[in-house]
Amino acid sequence: MFKTEVLSSDRSNIEYAARLINDGEVVGIPTETVYGLAADAANETAVKKIFEAKGRPQDNPLIVHLSSVDMMDRYVCNVPELAYRLVERFCPGPLTMVLPKRDIIPDVTSAGLDTIGIRIPFHKTARDIIDACGKPLAAPSANLSGSPSPTTAQHVFEDMNGRIPLIIDGGACGVGVESTVVSFENDGIRLLRPGYVSVEDLKSIGAEVFCDKGIVEAVADGEKVLSPGMKYKHYSPKANVTLVMGSLEKFTEYVSEHNGEDVYAMLYDRDAAEYPYKYMTYGDNSEEQAAQVFGVLRKADEIGAKQVFVRCPEQNGVGLAVYNRLLRSAGFEVIKV
Ligand code: TXA
Ligand code: MG
Repeated sequence: MFKTEVLSSDRSNIEYAARLINDGEVVGIPTETVYGLAADAANETAVKKIFEAKGRPQDNPLIVHLSSVDMMDRYVCNVPELAYRLVERFCPGPLTMVLPKRDIIPDVTSAGLDTIGIRIPFHKTARDIIDACGKPLAAPSANLSGSPSPTTAQHVFEDMNGRIPLIIDGGACGVGVESTVVSFENDGIRLLRPGYVSVEDLKSIGAEVFCDKGIVEAVADGEKVLSPGMKYKHYSPKANVTLVMGSLEKFTEYVSEHNGEDVYAMLYDRDAAEYPYKYMTYGDNSEEQAAQVFGVLRKADEIGAKQVFVRCPEQNGVGLAVYNRLLRSAGFEVIKV
């Protein structure tokens, strides 16, 4: 058990975080997407502590974070030309590329796979911490396994208090949903997890893009998936979440039939004015919804919601990522009205 400190991102705290990480500890760090739980990617004992702190299944691999593109060739090999084109366009940024790993990255980090996800975060504090450590950092999202990802230091504290020694507070995350995860096959890009870098963005470099089935469909038990994380129920508050697709009028009608004391709607901001029942709002466009979705799901627990009916988000641009996260928090329960 630790007494978990939350400290600002000033220089001396960044150096303190780096000392802890270099001593084999796990530290909560900000990135532009969500907060991460960072440890030395090459230190097996430290990486095992990440899995313990999160309660994460052992077969779900971690993303390895670098501070610059120059570091890449030391940790991955056989990098296709397409990957370098993505790097040029989108790195540093909210993009993770799955590539063949070199032996320096241990099997615990890759969960036994012969590939790792590589990401160069845009957030300055994240890169400063990597630089201060002088090594790549393995970091999953800093939530307890299964619960909504953390987009503030306070969210990390709620989940990790007592489990890690330190959280560096870099303010609220700008993007709000985790990075886009891609792999490479048949001269094209396979989208494994949608994020801020959208399908449209990936296509704009002239590549063919294949979307993994798990993005908008539940993966059956025992079915093989390319991204192990897609197997698990995810992003779930304690409340039951249901996505409702249709006009505001039909939505309201549906809720009125299923209303009760601890029932809340999760609406677009503009829906709220005339809405007659209890609600929370999560922004008016896909960017705002990405930034707010996890915080609002956490708020549902705070206010003791038992059932949340969500007005379905758009599915293009970063909207696909919002839709994917909400689908998973709803256990793929979608009602068309
Ligand atoms: O934005 C992000 O990516 C955040 C911040 C902290 O960087 N990190 C993050 O990590 O979301 P995590 O562990 O919560 O999600 C990583 C996802 C999982 O779905 C995992 O299965 C997939 O990436 N993944 C990681 N390595 C992989 C690999 N070698 N092959 C296939 N999928 C991989
Ligand atoms: Mg995660």
